[in-house]
Amino acid sequence: MIITIVGGGSTFTPGIVKSIALRQKELEVEEVRLFDIDEERQYKVSLVVDWILKDIKSPIRLTVTTDKKTAYENSSFIFAQMRVGKYAMREKDEKIPLRHGCVGQETCGCGGLAYGLRTLFPMIQVIDDVEKYAAPDHWILNYSNPAAVVSEACRALRPHARIINICDMPIAILEMVGRCLDIPNFTDFDVNYFGLNHFGWFTDITYQGRDLKAEITEYVMKNKTLLPPDVLEKLKEHDRVGERHLNASWIHTWNNVYKVLQSNPEYLPNTYLQYYLLSKDVVEESNPEYTRANEVMDSREKELFEGIDHYIKTGEVTAKAFYHGAHGNYIADLAMALKNDTKKKFIVIVQNNGAIENIAPDAMVEVPAYIGKNGPEVICQGPIGDYYKGLMEQQLASEKLLVAGGIEGSYEKVWKAFSMNKTVPSATVAKAILDEMIEANKEFWPELR
Ligand code: NAD
Ligand code: G6P
Ligand code: MN
Repeated sequence: MIITIVGGGSTFTPGIVKSIALRQKELEVEEVRLFDIDEERQYKVSLVVDWILKDIKSPIRLTVTTDKKTAYENSSFIFAQMRVGKYAMREKDEKIPLRHGCVGQETCGCGGLAYGLRTLFPMIQVIDDVEKYAAPDHWILNYSNPAAVVSEACRALRPHARIINICDMPIAILEMVGRCLDIPNFTDFDVNYFGLNHFGWFTDITYQGRDLKAEITEYVMKNKTLLPPDVLEKLKEHDRVGERHLNASWIHTWNNVYKVLQSNPEYLPNTYLQYYLLSKDVVEESNPEYTRANEVMDSREKELFEGIDHYIKTGEVTAKAFYHGAHGNYIADLAMALKNDTKKKFIVIVQNNGAIENIAPDAMVEVPAYIGKNGPEVICQGPIGDYYKGLMEQQLASEKLLVAGGIEGSYEKVWKAFSMNKTVPSATVAKAILDEMIEANKEFWPELR
């Protein structure tokens, strides 16, 4: 059994490989292959991956390549996590909209749409290469963002691809809920959830007969945050970096859950709803000269590559060199459920087909599904209220127009996608952002006429 990681040079690769290696027996994995287009970055990351495998005495063989055939041949699982344009382009996605007074974010608003236009065709290329070389019953598990746009592009262009798009935010939220309520077994929480990627709500969270949704709502209302204060105290600054979702901007995000929940206490919101429901506040609290991309380059990326340099010099790997946790565990557990037909429940991004009754059947939605060898069996979430339906349909239309605009090379459709995004106040502002984005993305975007 072979697992290929696309975006082998990612900051998340070491943590994901560790999660795979810890499940070696259940996955029956013999080989992990790293594939990237940046040979040097991937080579460096592979040194620490190699160390991890040796450190836990794993029998897994490691292959590091920039050749597609070597990467995909007979592979059973392809974990995709590429960042097209890398952090340099993420920085532009965040800073260009902010200069126009709009939300500047990796996956939301105009930044997310820009990242979507960069990623759409490279993702289709991955699917085609995988279909050419990989095992016929392979699965592509995709983390590459922006997952909402990427999944819509896959649906539109490669509807039969064996791909499941996923996001770690719901599981990260459940981990935080568990910390607030002092229950460590967050992967066993039973949930109902509906929405789009980075745009959804938990309608139920239960565990051993307890109504955790009610308990966490009360907790957030009382403490005005989804971040337990003792978590911050317990963790030293460097652990916080490795902890993920815990440096300055993420702390702000967890606190904003309170503001979003205040505006609608019915369901527990996904953290990303802050960008749509609190867009003015988020812009006012952003620093257009120093965004999340800068923070990541100064923390997660820096710690990893400094850690690798330290390892090359001394043969020792420091604790802060890489993060290992829910992100890698989630994708490895999903592969395990597919392989071993466990029918365990996971929140995934799939074609609606009635899961949310009053949302179009062809919408790519994020909902819970039982995962077995034939893929996701979606769990129906019933009809949703006007508030959610209205918000979701506007966002969905923006993302669908973007994908259609990208495929057809239509300036008009992409402009409409930008204009109708809830983070943008006016069509003229949308045009100004779009025109700057076209210039910034010359190397990556399809031509828009
Ligand atoms: P990173 O820049 O450290 O790594 C991305 C890697 O992808 C780089 O090594 C880059 O060279 C490579 N790459 C770029 N284009 C490629 C292509 N066409 N083919 C193969 N490799 C390519 O980024 P990161 O912060 O580690 O994040 C990696 C990806 O995972 C991003 O897309 C990020 O948004 C995504 N992510 C998603 C979730 C989720 O919940 N869905 C969570 C975390 C990260
Ligand atoms: C969450 C989201 C991902 C996103 C990530 C950004 O985990 O689910 O989709 O990529 O946050 O994290 P970062 O640390 O890179 O800002
Ligand atoms: Mn995500």
